[in-house]
Amino acid sequence: MTTAIDSQRSTELVHLLLIEDDEDDAIIAHSLLSNIRGVEFTIDWVASYEEAHSSILQNRHHVCLLDYCLGTRTGLELLHDAMQYGCKTPIIMMTGTTDRHIDFQAVQLGASDYVVKGHIDPPLLERVIRHARERKKAEVEREELHTQLLETSRQLGMADIAINILHNVGNVLTSINVSAGLISQTIRQAPIGEVGLIANMLHTHHDHLDTFLTMDPKGKLIPQYLQELGNNLSSRVEQTISEVDFLVSKVHHVIQIIDAQQTIAKPGGIQESVRLDDVVKQAFMISGGELEDHHIEVVHEYAELPQVLLDKHQVLQILVNLIRNATHAMIAHERAHHRLTVRIAPCIDQKSFVQIQVSDTGVGIRPEHLTRIFAQGFTTKTHGNGIGLHSSALAAKNCGGSLYASSEGKGRGATFTLTLPLSVVPQSG
Ligand SMILES: Nc1ncnc2c1ncn2[C@@H]1O[C@H](COP(=O)(O)OP(=O)(O)OP(=O)(O)O)[C@@H](O)[C@H]1O
Ligand SMILES: [Mg+2]
Repeated sequence: MTTAIDSQRSTELVHLLLIEDDEDDAIIAHSLLSNIRGVEFTIDWVASYEEAHSSILQNRHHVCLLDYCLGTRTGLELLHDAMQYGCKTPIIMMTGTTDRHIDFQAVQLGASDYVVKGHIDPPLLERVIRHARERKKAEVEREELHTQLLETSRQLGMADIAINILHNVGNVLTSINVSAGLISQTIRQAPIGEVGLIANMLHTHHDHLDTFLTMDPKGKLIPQYLQELGNNLSSRVEQTISEVDFLVSKVHHVIQIIDAQQTIAKPGGIQESVRLDDVVKQAFMISGGELEDHHIEVVHEYAELPQVLLDKHQVLQILVNLIRNATHAMIAHERAHHRLTVRIAPCIDQKSFVQIQVSDTGVGIRPEHLTRIFAQGFTTKTHGNGIGLHSSALAAKNCGGSLYASSEGKGRGATFTLTLPLSVVPQSG
């Protein structure tokens, strides 16, 4: 049943759910509410537990007054259910007696407040209702904010992963593009059409092929020409096969980058048994031809090391970034001769670690930038994104190692040291 109570100077409309199985108590509650000044209440009064249950879960009311006794059930049970189903209405519990235990339980279960019948007057009830509504509003806002924050951080996390994937895949795509271009050029320039021309010639002279091949000036050239054509075509096929193999390995690397990035938060990716010098070699292949294009000398200083177990694709990703950065730092620093040095050596102070150092003779790094360069978004390049070193430091950490930079300052080159755990592959036999 719905009753509207008008207050002469009503300023606010409040839709209230009154859950009360005792008619006399319901009348008292109506009377108390009608005597509250400044608020106009629309009251839905329900007397049974079942009716109350469905009303409260509709979340249609601004506030609910809930009686403790509801026939054979209690208001606490209803409160429990309401909270379980995510009820957003502030609920004020009412009882006939002062019982601290019920009071405590009601608040524990999620009641906004607790009042004792007979000990309440209109101003007090107004205050209790107002406070309960304000508290509930703040609580709902807090929950919404929390949900929003969770969603935002989830989206940021996804954006982070996407940015890293794009950056690292972008690095590899450059060399995929070069390979694909080479394959296309090799096939396009293959003298396949010549085969057809010779076949036509032979067909035209098929009834006197012996004299054509031995006496005719053009025919006499055919055997030698066919041999050269054969050599040319087989060398192109070989070239194409090796370029396709290279392409396949790079596409595989792209897939690994995506996989690794998706599991970046989880330590321990796929461990492979590798030789570190092979990994460095592959990193140079992926880094493209910029070093040769700019006549940069590359020096390799490798200590004898056994096969090690490591997440090859994460290490490749780091090395490609370091080689790219070093190349760009040298291109940006005008000088007659540039040198990139890669060193692989056991760690002197940490026996179970190995170091890969990439040193260049480029622009160098100012002391105040030595740690900032690892922050996501830090870049000094016009077209840089500031992702390479950040994702490399994360990848190094993921591998159980670390990455740090050193430089004697502007114009003095830089050295990046990647430290990795030395998990030696046991030798069989
Ligand atoms: N070898 C180096 N010598 C000098 N400065 C370097 C070197 N490597 C990195 N830096 C500095 O660190 C910054 C961050 O490097 P990082 O690889 O994270 O981003 P980026 O190269 O600017 O852009 P990208 O996201 O495309 O890699 C660079 O902009 C540069 O200022
Ligand atoms: Mg970079």
